[in-house]
Amino acid sequence: MRPSNFALYITSLLWLHLIDAKIGYFWHITDLHYDPFHNSPEFHRGCRHNRGNSEHNHRNGRHRDHTCDSSWSLIQSAAALMAERHPDTLEFVLWTGDILSSSLEHVSEEFKLEAVRNVTDILSRTFSSQFVFPALGHNDPPPSRKLVDMWMQWLPTEALQTFETGGYYTIEQSHSKLCIVVLNSVLWAGGAARNDNPHHHRARAQWEWLEKVLSKARRKKEMVYLVAHAGPGVEERHNAGSSSAAGGGELTPNANGRLLHVIRTYSDVIAGQFYGHRHADTFRLIYSDGQPVSWALLAPSVTPRGAGSISNPGLRLYKFDSNSGKVLDYTQYYLDVTNSRGELHWSIEYNLTQYYGLREVSATSLDALAERIRNYHDRGIFAKYLTALRVRHSTDVSDCDAACVYVHYCAITRADYNDFRTCVRNPASALASRAPHNSAAILLYAILILISS
Ligand SMILES: *[C@@H]1O[C@H](CO)[C@@H](O)[C@H](O)[C@H]1NC(C)=O
Ligand SMILES: *[C@@H]1O[C@H](CO)[C@@H](O)[C@H](O)[C@H]1NC(C)=O
Repeated sequence: MRPSNFALYITSLLWLHLIDAKIGYFWHITDLHYDPFHNSPEFHRGCRHNRGNSEHNHRNGRHRDHTCDSSWSLIQSAAALMAERHPDTLEFVLWTGDILSSSLEHVSEEFKLEAVRNVTDILSRTFSSQFVFPALGHNDPPPSRKLVDMWMQWLPTEALQTFETGGYYTIEQSHSKLCIVVLNSVLWAGGAARNDNPHHHRARAQWEWLEKVLSKARRKKEMVYLVAHAGPGVEERHNAGSSSAAGGGELTPNANGRLLHVIRTYSDVIAGQFYGHRHADTFRLIYSDGQPVSWALLAPSVTPRGAGSISNPGLRLYKFDSNSGKVLDYTQYYLDVTNSRGELHWSIEYNLTQYYGLREVSATSLDALAERIRNYHDRGIFAKYLTALRVRHSTDVSDCDAACVYVHYCAITRADYNDFRTCVRNPASALASRAPHNSAAILLYAILILISS
């Protein structure tokens, strides 16, 4: 083919691709942690410490610090922003749990359900003609008839059946090849997943169900979004900066390993993974034979209260091809809680592809980004990453030295707990493990593991 013909050919391919793509949008909102006692001085249960100071800061319903969970006015402002930035082709909303403040643990189930209902109501007013797909977190009421009644406006009958017994469900869109799979990560987390726990059979049922759903999607040539409160991988901020990195995450080691295995097995049908829980803006990559095969994007919380460290409230609007499910970009919104006027003013923080200079959103492009983040000599890209991780709570990255940068890199690229520990302990082994087809590298890797253990 002559160059000019080739250019024509490429142009027409691109054009075909463009007319084929149907651009749509969806919001991902997570970790609202609504605290109904936020403004009552006698309670302030959702505030971590320093009562007197918090009262001062929260006079007139202001949100001047990061020690309190979301007030009702913060949630109202988030809903107002989403209503204002409502695209015409908004397809759905992913809502990945931890609706309530953890300080509500000791209030009655009725009160919790009332709080969940209030948040549900404001979301259904905000999205009057879209469906909201909720996933449960550890601070949410367990699946029940009452939750089913509340959410039946959004979930079809088949979904409600599995939701009521296990808190998980799948949404098959009739007009597209995209299937949304919502998992109940609580069943695979900490105490709930133990053998002696009554939840144990539910956890097993969810595994069997998940594999069935994924193989059905493959048969029907559908693409899948995996959606849950907590996903696989480690919590980097408990580990960053400490050489004795524990390397744990929300899921039990068994559940984490098994989920990674399922994701690798079905990476050809998984178009993306969407999680919350960490109160941080970050991503995870899953590799198979050294190749990046799947990505997970973690959205920051609406609550300004930290989990491990602190961040500003965030809301995320995804742009995608609603025929194929391919994610094209997202716009990250944030609210600076410490702004001097004390107003609840949301603004755009960044757009993913532009911010990091990505040509597309794929496991390969995010893998290349992870390599740039790891490069200590290019502090610019790491500063961008850390600033986004904290949702612009701070742009000073001088507290993160080379070892700390490396922990972040390991957290992004090593979703397996053991791999993460090895990676953090030994930077050289991490480099070697990137080239598993190279037998010299494997030998070196083995020797390094022997030496380090
Ligand atoms: C729920 O909303 C109602 C009506 O605005 C209000 O009276 C009630 O206090 C709210 N309850 C909670 C727990 O937020
Ligand atoms: C991000 O994308 C949105 C929507 O496409 C656009 O309106 C906005 O100007 C972009 N913002 C930045 C900071 O690039």
